[in-house]
Amino acid sequence: MRLCSEIVILHWLCSITRSSCTNMPPESQTESSTTSTATVRKHLPPVKDEKTGEYKSVADNFTGATQASRYLVVSAVALFIYFRAPLQDAVDHLWSYLIKNDLFCSAYFETIYVTLVYIALVAGYPFVMHYIPWVQKFKVSDDVTYVHRPFFGKVGMVLEMFFHLTPLLVADALKMKKYFDVPEIEWEKRRGQWIQTTRALPEHSPNVLLMCGQVIGSVIAFDAIFFVVHFILHKNFYLYKYFHSQHHDHDVMHPHVTNQLSVVERILQVASANYSLILFRSHPLSRLVFVPVFLWFLIENHTGYDLPWAPHRLIPHGVMGGPAKHHAHHQHGSRHYQPFFNYLDKWLENWQLRKKLA
Ligand SMILES: *[C@@H]1O[C@H](CO)[C@@H](O)[C@H](O)[C@H]1NC(C)=O
Ligand SMILES: *[C@@H]1O[C@H](CO)[C@@H](O)[C@H](O)[C@H]1NC(C)=O
Repeated sequence: MRLCSEIVILHWLCSITRSSCTNMPPESQTESSTTSTATVRKHLPPVKDEKTGEYKSVADNFTGATQASRYLVVSAVALFIYFRAPLQDAVDHLWSYLIKNDLFCSAYFETIYVTLVYIALVAGYPFVMHYIPWVQKFKVSDDVTYVHRPFFGKVGMVLEMFFHLTPLLVADALKMKKYFDVPEIEWEKRRGQWIQTTRALPEHSPNVLLMCGQVIGSVIAFDAIFFVVHFILHKNFYLYKYFHSQHHDHDVMHPHVTNQLSVVERILQVASANYSLILFRSHPLSRLVFVPVFLWFLIENHTGYDLPWAPHRLIPHGVMGGPAKHHAHHQHGSRHYQPFFNYLDKWLENWQLRKKLA
């Protein structure tokens, strides 16, 4: 039943892209038409090197800081591998505590947790950056700024949160959570309930190395899935207008833009993340770790700072796109659809180029 509805939705999305692709004007026109829909305001664009096509950034002059951060990351990974036995013990203890904790066992835990982690990150990380003068030179363009949003001050904010959380909480209440390695009997107990109150958790804690694999794998999978979703949202005029344009409607670039999404896009984002986690049979503890990693990546992309120690600089060969590219995406509304990495964007551009030449 569930599979059927998913196939129908997929088919529907495919048919939309196909029809919008065949009606697509030539590439040059597409650029301008998407630009006009993506409310572009006058501001300084990130400087692009004509020869290499790469964005220039102040952080290019801080390769020492980048290199030092790389050493730190490699050392952290080495320490992690070396101390994995005591870490495993700690994880085992944590898990035996969590499965007895009422809040953690609640069916609504993940929705609440995601919200709290997001609020903590979006309020903390860019706020701190905004007040460190030394960091200001890494802004990708002059229109990057920090916008204070008093959280409880605005009724609008609370209402917005209500609209975004309601569908997720309703899903939590109606749909039984099915994690891997949970005894069948636990599901049997919940199957008859109209409203879910608790979620059935696996008895055993995860292996720490496997947990890392699940988190990294899920981030990579989300990136690929959301690339497709994001591309479709841009290429179909109506989908763009009703479901995605608000994400591009801002005067200045600031971290709150991360969350400026329509309810439909929010659901697509959550579902993409959820399916990525399912793909790797992720343990609920891996899901717990995935949330801050994933949200931090998303926020990082919208801060508008190109820091020497940002992930896209630490990982060599331009595997990750970086905030400068995402900024360009926000200004021009075309290109750079992949949320974290770069390889699918490159593949898409090569493919479009070949199609144009043929
Ligand atoms: C998310 O994944 C869990 C675990 O597999 C599943 O039970 C749940 O229904 C999913 N939620 C959504 C909104 O897809
Ligand atoms: C940010 O977005 C761009 C383009 O949308 C992407 O290429 C890049 O990898 C993203 N992620 C980070 C962490 O910078």
